[in-house]
Parts: sequence; structure tokens; C-alpha cells
Amino acid sequence: MNTSNIPEILTHVDAGVMTITLNRLARKNSITAAMYDALADALDSANHDAAVRAVVIQGHETIFSAGNDIGDFLNKPPATSDAPVFRFLRGLSSFPKPIVASVCGPAVGIGTTMLLHCDLVYAGDNAAFSMPFVNLGLCPEAASSFLAVQLMGYPRAAEALLLGEPFMAETALDMGLINRIVPPAEANALAQRQALKLAAKPITSLMETKRLMKKGNAGMVAERMAEEGASFGRMLQEPAAREAFTAFMEKRKPDFSAL
Ligand code: COA
Repeated sequence: MNTSNIPEILTHVDAGVMTITLNRLARKNSITAAMYDALADALDSANHDAAVRAVVIQGHETIFSAGNDIGDFLNKPPATSDAPVFRFLRGLSSFPKPIVASVCGPAVGIGTTMLLHCDLVYAGDNAAFSMPFVNLGLCPEAASSFLAVQLMGYPRAAEALLLGEPFMAETALDMGLINRIVPPAEANALAQRQALKLAAKPITSLMETKRLMKKGNAGMVAERMAEEGASFGRMLQEPAAREAFTAFMEKRKPDFSAL
């Protein structure tokens, strides 16, 4: 049974696993404020429901997510730390039970940065990861300016975050962003199998092990996420982002030459 109250986010619980599906294919699974709220609500419910012992986040085998919905961001920029996107990111980064992600096709912006907070990530061989914040006149979010450097090393993080160019599944595997590459049609099933394995283990041990593994980063992640969020919210209102977003809506290349 779907427990989400919007059709763009589907959630169901079975055998100890809550599966959360991004379901907005016509807009390439880009994420609106209402969807961030539903995602945050789903994680909150998974956190407090003793019947949930692991979570799967998945998209479609052709697309994981095109990132933030650009029109929604232009019209309703997240102005405060209570904005749905920040609520989701805080819930995700501090989520105490294991999260398994299945990623196929493009994973843009938050589609990639959310993976830095998941425990196991399985990717289709068509997965294309990108963090094009600079190209949008923005800065990183989800503590990715910290976690990407830590994971990939500075040179590769600089390529990913300053150039913002996509990288494919093989590169993501080499960086340690993902666990395994499989044919796209198999990714969701593999994520589900791994989550079921986790759900059969003692939850107290899973949660304590995750807490201990994340402990060294937890304070820095929260602090960096708050700092990035303040900059991101401000930069969304500035000319570079407005030009980038307007250009996307008008299907033309942005022109930053006057900025
Ligand atoms: N926000 C709002 N709408 C989006 C969107 C987004 N992030 N990404 C895609 N869409 C819309 C497109 O405008 C298009 O709408 P239309 O059918 O009315 O023209 C529709 O979804 C299909 O997208 P399209 O670009 O034609 O699909 P594609 O398969 O050629 O490319 C992507 C897929 C994900 C590579 C491409 O859509 C893309 O780069 N999107 C923007 C990503 C981005 O910059 N995100 C912001 C991160 S902060």
C-alpha cells in the first residue's frame, strides 16, 4: 500500500523494507518542494516505525533524478532552513537505519549528492552522475563540498564540482561513490535484495554500527550543510542563477558574460 500522499513519491513497506520511489517521469524525476516534503515525511515515518529496518530509494531504470525542479526553485526558492529541501537533507543525513539506493540513468545535482548519505548504492551501467551547481550559478548542497572532497580527493572533486561535467558509473565505482554496476533492469531488484538482507539482521547492531561509522563526519556534515544552505538560498536569488534557470526554461544556453 502506498503511504505517501502525493503520486510523485511512492512509498511502501514490505518485509521490514520501506521502498521510496521517485515517480515523476514526465519531468525526469525532478524534485519539487511538495516532493521534498513527502520524502522527508517518508524518512521520518521510517525512522519511527519499528517495522521498518532498512530503506530503499529508487528511481526508474531510465532516470534517477534530474535534480531540483528548476521552475519550482525559481518560483518558490527555499528561503529558510525549514524549507522542504533542507528538511529532507537533514533527515537523510542523520537517518539512523541503513539506506540502499538504486540509480539508473541521469542523477543530477541532488540526485547525486543524496547518494553521499546512503549506505549502499547500486547503479545501472547507464547511470550518469553530475553536480552542475556552478553551471547553474549556485554552490554545492547536501554537504557535498565536504563529502565529495573526502570521498574522491580534491582533484576529482574539483572536476566534478567546478566543471560540473557528468561522470559515468565506472568512474563512480572507482571513486567509491557506488558499490556495484549492473544492467539497469536489475538495479532495483538488487537494491531490494540487499535491503532485505539488512532487514533480517539485528536492528540495534545495524544502527549502532552506522552511528559509529558516521560519527567522525556527523558534526562537520551538519555544519557544512547549514553553511551551504545559506549560500545556496542566497545565490538562487542572484543574477547568475536566474540567468541559468531562465535559459533552461527558454531552452537556450545561459549567457554569464555580463555577470
Ligand atoms: N526541472 C524542471 N523540469 C525539468 C528538469 C528539472 N530539473 N529536468 C528536466 N525537466 C523537464 C524538461 O524541461 C522537459 O520538459 P518538456 O517536456 O516540457 O520540454 C522534460 O523534463 C524532459 O526533459 P529533457 O531535457 O527533454 O530530457 P532528456 O532525457 O533529454 O535529458 C536530463 C534529461 C536530466 C539530462 C536533462 O533534462 C537535464 O539536464 N535537466 C536539468 C538538470 C538540472 O540542471 N537540474 C538542476 C540541478 S540543481
